[in-house]
Amino acid sequence: MSIPDPQTYSFRQILVDGIISPWQFLGLSISFVPGTILRLIRSGSYLTLLSPSRFQDSWFGDFWATVGPEVRKNAGAKVVPLLDGRTRDGKIYDEVVGPAVSGTVIEVGPGSGLWVSVFSDRTTALSDLTKDEKDTGLRKRSPDARVTKVYGVEPNPDMHERLHQRVRDAGLEDIYEVVPVGIEELSSSGRVEKGSVDCIVSILCLCSIPDPEKNIKELYTYLKPGGRWYVYEHVKTQPWQGWFINLYQVLLNVFWPRCIGGCQLRRDTGKTLREAGPWSHVDFAPFKQETWYNVCPHSVGVFTK
Ligand SMILES: C[S@@+](CC[C@H](N)C(=O)[O-])C[C@H]1O[C@@H](n2cnc3c(N)ncnc32)[C@H](O)[C@@H]1O
Repeated sequence: MSIPDPQTYSFRQILVDGIISPWQFLGLSISFVPGTILRLIRSGSYLTLLSPSRFQDSWFGDFWATVGPEVRKNAGAKVVPLLDGRTRDGKIYDEVVGPAVSGTVIEVGPGSGLWVSVFSDRTTALSDLTKDEKDTGLRKRSPDARVTKVYGVEPNPDMHERLHQRVRDAGLEDIYEVVPVGIEELSSSGRVEKGSVDCIVSILCLCSIPDPEKNIKELYTYLKPGGRWYVYEHVKTQPWQGWFINLYQVLLNVFWPRCIGGCQLRRDTGKTLREAGPWSHVDFAPFKQETWYNVCPHSVGVFTK
């Protein structure tokens, strides 16, 4: 693993990007609270106002509607290659180095559907790619990789309208089914059969699910033998990032889940996935191009059952 040299970054970069910007993100989220309260009062949704968990969902729905597209723009140049089979050991490749997402898919926590278009065929999806993604010639998956069915398992009702709209925009009404429950209720919903799924896709959502050890193990049972789990998640800081950033993440995590829809910064998601069940192949690593002072570091890769 290549470890970035702390000397190559200026003090200003570390201060602004590493130390201050996470608080700006929290502040931005808090600035949505008055708007959400007003919206709920105007629509007469008083029960949502009185329930902390439902209010948090509504607040996060409003926040993500604005911030999500920006996050997607930054993450697109990593997630699209991941789903096209062009990442390995935390690096992005120009050529295809593994299988693309295909067949029957569970998308865990699709939120407002920012990634839905990626499941569509090349022509439709291309129109929705960011300029960066087009410029770098992404969408280079193998031609036989076709997604035939997607179950979008999303419990937050405040996401559903936008999610349905993005499914329609991508022309995927026939294959993308929104399952309006949390993954902990997927089994009782009876909508997806265990052992029937070719691929699971989780993008920035395993930080937000309850009881990750139990629920990730449960999701594992939905994969067929040979099925693949594509992961792009932010995780607990890595030891090579040093004690200060590690401690700083611990401090931030006191406030983060309360302000960002229950999102936890300190999850060791790679370990939880590895322990979910036997895998025939694991390719999961910290994303190579990130700085050591990133308090929200990402890991990327594919687990094959
Ligand atoms: C940070 S958002 C990311 C949404 C989307 N993947 C994206 O990248 O735009 C996390 C998502 O996980 C969802 N989530 C939370 N708990 C969940 C659960 N138990 N099962 C499935 N999804 C869940 C949230 O509702 C939210 O939409």
